[in-house]
Order: sequence, then structure tokens, then C-alpha cells
Amino acid sequence: VSARSSSPVAPAVAVVGATGLVGEILLRILEERAFPVGELRPLSSARSAGARVRFRGRDHLVREATPAAFAGSDFVFFAATGELSRSLAPVAVAAGAIVIDKSNTWRLAGHVPLVVPEVNPAALAAHQGLLACPNCTTIGLVMALEPLRRAAGLAHVAVTTLQAASGAGREGLEALAGAADRFFPRPLLGNVLPQCEGFQEGGFTSEERKLSDETRKILGLPELPVTMTCVRVPVAVGHAATVLVETIEPLAPAAAIEALGAFPGVRVAPGNGYATPLEVAGRDEVAVGRVRADPTHPRRLWLWCVVDNLRKGAATNAVQIAEELLLRRTPARA
Ligand SMILES: NC(=O)c1ccc[n+]([C@@H]2O[C@H](COP(=O)([O-])OP(=O)(O)OC[C@H]3O[C@@H](n4cnc5c(N)ncnc54)[C@H](OP(=O)(O)O)[C@@H]3O)[C@@H](O)[C@H]2O)c1
Repeated sequence: VSARSSSPVAPAVAVVGATGLVGEILLRILEERAFPVGELRPLSSARSAGARVRFRGRDHLVREATPAAFAGSDFVFFAATGELSRSLAPVAVAAGAIVIDKSNTWRLAGHVPLVVPEVNPAALAAHQGLLACPNCTTIGLVMALEPLRRAAGLAHVAVTTLQAASGAGREGLEALAGAADRFFPRPLLGNVLPQCEGFQEGGFTSEERKLSDETRKILGLPELPVTMTCVRVPVAVGHAATVLVETIEPLAPAAAIEALGAFPGVRVAPGNGYATPLEVAGRDEVAVGRVRADPTHPRRLWLWCVVDNLRKGAATNAVQIAEELLLRRTPARA
């Protein structure tokens, strides 16, 4: 980490978006995991500046995220908007901080590691001060794919996601409650929308493109065919997905279940049943189940996968990245 945080003094940690859904959970996870925070700097837009957030039993004043706000910070978590990450993440890096960004702005940039610590920890070593956390749905997906890839290689992946309203932030939750009816393209309450973000050429949405690209980058398989449909469902927290995986070598369901169950951070539902969003909400594991052979193809498996999008899908993964960097004490710049 940076020169400052390699001292025995606990790091100064800034959280941009501390008043948002992910920022709030991030504060809880820093507490739960006893991350060494010497000083906490909660930041937001001018709208919430002056509010207070609770951390380790004390109220902390929220300030506006301005370029000057990063001086002296060792770690800066960005959980605000993509635009803000584009303008301010480089400023924070230039000020000597390590930035862990939750937005989609930097994820595919060549010089930015895109990391799920259980899956591609080696990518951390190459960072230049800025690291990206994948999309909440991507994280659950790669956690389920990596053990299968290690066991039998991956040939093709087809996914349908079922994404919770909170994946779109506080306004998403309000829309689910019926308070912001125009936030999603159609009403979400009592409905299912086969659209997450806007449509692009070819009929896919930007979310579908992003998830496929991120999956290939994290797995280090730039040619892997990954294709998907992303669906918004009237669920508060917990992204689910049905996944059809074609492996390179044959892989029996029992062997797949063994590989999945042995992978850190993955839990196979008892009896190869299934977990639901309500059951994973508030937990950090990616729950996998219904692992079964596709009768139409000798090397294809179906599975069901669920993750708490705000915890492992966002905040927990970001804190794990910071923990790994502290452990490795890698230099802030190559
Ligand atoms: N929700 C998820 O499941 C999830 C998962 C993975 C990644 N992410 C990403 O994480 C980020 C935060 O998402 P969220 O769901 O927590 O959103 P959210 O609930 O809408 O919260 C947004 C936060 O960003 C702050 N913010 C907005 N515009 C700002 C600006 N111009 N300057 C400074 N702060 C600003 C807000 O501050 P105010 O209170 O002042 O408005 C608030 O604290 C996004 O980049 C999102 O793509 C979300």
C-alpha cells in the first residue's frame, strides 16, 4: 500500500457515497471485519453533506466529495456514480490513495485490475493505485464459474439473471415500493422486466454486454463465449441467476458439486436444493444449487446461483480487496 499506510498507523479511509445503499453496507462491513480504520471520512454529494453516519458507535460528519477531500487518505472506496469515479478517482490516486471503485467506469480499462479476491487475486499485484470491483451480478457468476473452470475448463456460458431492485441503488428500492414509478422502464412491483439499463445495437442491453466483458476479464479468458439476458425482478435484495455451463472436459454433477463446495465463499445448498434471495440477504456466501446435467448435451450443466448484491456483490468484495492489499503491502504504484 502507499507509503503512508505502510506505517503502523491504521489507514485513513474515505468512503465516497457513504449515504448510499452500498456505502452504508460498506461501513457495516468495515466494522464487522474489523478493518483497521484510523480515521473515517464519509463523503457524499452536496445534497447529503452535513448529515451524519454511524461508525463504530460514533456519529461521523458527512462532507462533500471534492478534489481536496482526498488529501491524506490511504484508501478511498468509491460507491457513488460512474461519472464521479471518472472525474475524482484519478485525483484521489494522484493524492497518494489506493482507490477501490464500485462503479462501472474503470472496470474494463487495461491498467485497472478487476478483482474478485477468491478468483483472481494475482491481478492485485499489477495495480497502479486504482482497482475496480466488478458488477454485483458478475461477482456471483464468476464465483460459481471459477471452481468449474478449475475442474473441467469452460467452453460456453449462457446466463439469465434475476436482479433485485436494490442493484439500482436507493431509487431502485423506492421504485419497488411504488414511490418512483418511472425509475425503471415499466412498473416493477408485481412485474418482471427483461431490461436492465438501455438497449444497444444487436438487441442486448449495456448491462448484458458489461457482464459478459467483465466475466471474460476476471477469468482471464478473453475468447470465452458468455452470453446472457438480464432481468429485473421485484425483489429487494439478492441477485439470482440460472446458468448453463458447457465445460471442456466432461464433469459429472457430483464432481461439480464437490468443486463448488470446496471453493472459498461458495456454499452449495443442502441436498443440492436451492437458496432464495431472502435467504442470502445479509450473508456473504454465493449460494449455488440445482446443479444438474443437461440431458441434451454431454458436457453441459445447469445451476442456480444467488448472491447478496450489496454485500459480496459490492461492499464485501471491495473490503476484501483492501484487506488483501494491506496483507501484501504492495506498492501503490508499479
Ligand atoms: N446497489 C448495488 O447492488 C451495487 C452493486 C455493485 C455496484 N454498485 C455501484 O455502487 C455505486 C453506488 O450504488 P448505490 O446502489 O449505493 O447507489 P445509491 O443508493 O443511489 O447511493 C449513491 C451514493 O452516491 C452519492 N452521490 C451521488 N452523486 C454524487 C456526486 N455527484 N458526488 C458525490 N456523491 C454522490 C450519494 O450521495 P447523496 O446522499 O448526497 O445523494 C449516495 O451516497 C454505483 O456506482 C453502483 O453502480 C451498486
